[in-house]
Amino acid sequence: MLSEKLVERLNHQVNLEYYSANLYLQMSSWCELKSLQGCAQFLRQHADEEMQHMHHLFRYINETGNMAVLGEIKAPPTEYKSVVDVFQQTYEHECYITKEINNLVHLTLEESDYSTHHFLQWYVAEQHEEEHLFHSIIQKIELITEGSSNKRLFIMDKAIQQMAKKQRRLVKKRRKLS
Ligand code: FEO
Repeated sequence: MLSEKLVERLNHQVNLEYYSANLYLQMSSWCELKSLQGCAQFLRQHADEEMQHMHHLFRYINETGNMAVLGEIKAPPTEYKSVVDVFQQTYEHECYITKEINNLVHLTLEESDYSTHHFLQWYVAEQHEEEHLFHSIIQKIELITEGSSNKRLFIMDKAIQQMAKKQRRLVKKRRKLS
């Protein structure tokens, strides 16, 4: 049995996840206009993930016999200074979402709601991954844009990564043959 306060806070999180999906979808549109198809695809896929986060929470609220409620979702920004700005904003947004998830988890402990506490652990782990993901993208973009030697370093790193993947495939193939 969820407390009214917890239902309200979970619904708030439903709407935040919905906003996250809209934010990343809007960012993908900006990237498309700048001919950054790779970034656009990444952000579109991430928008889909955020919708899954939203649905997961939505179902949980319903499963506990409460009503999941979709509120008004504000429009995301449409203008960005650069692709670094786009990913900087995704990172800052994810840090904000982490704080909100942490507040929710804290509330479950205050209310001794261990079932919801357990349910939210998936989001805790997910936020760690997402912060790491977006932060590493910013670092990679900075490597490319901050100077020609860094750019070479990045390209070299990519080439080695491709070689590592090829090598792994070869090792697997050999293991099957032996
Ligand atoms: Fe659903 Fe990116 O947090």
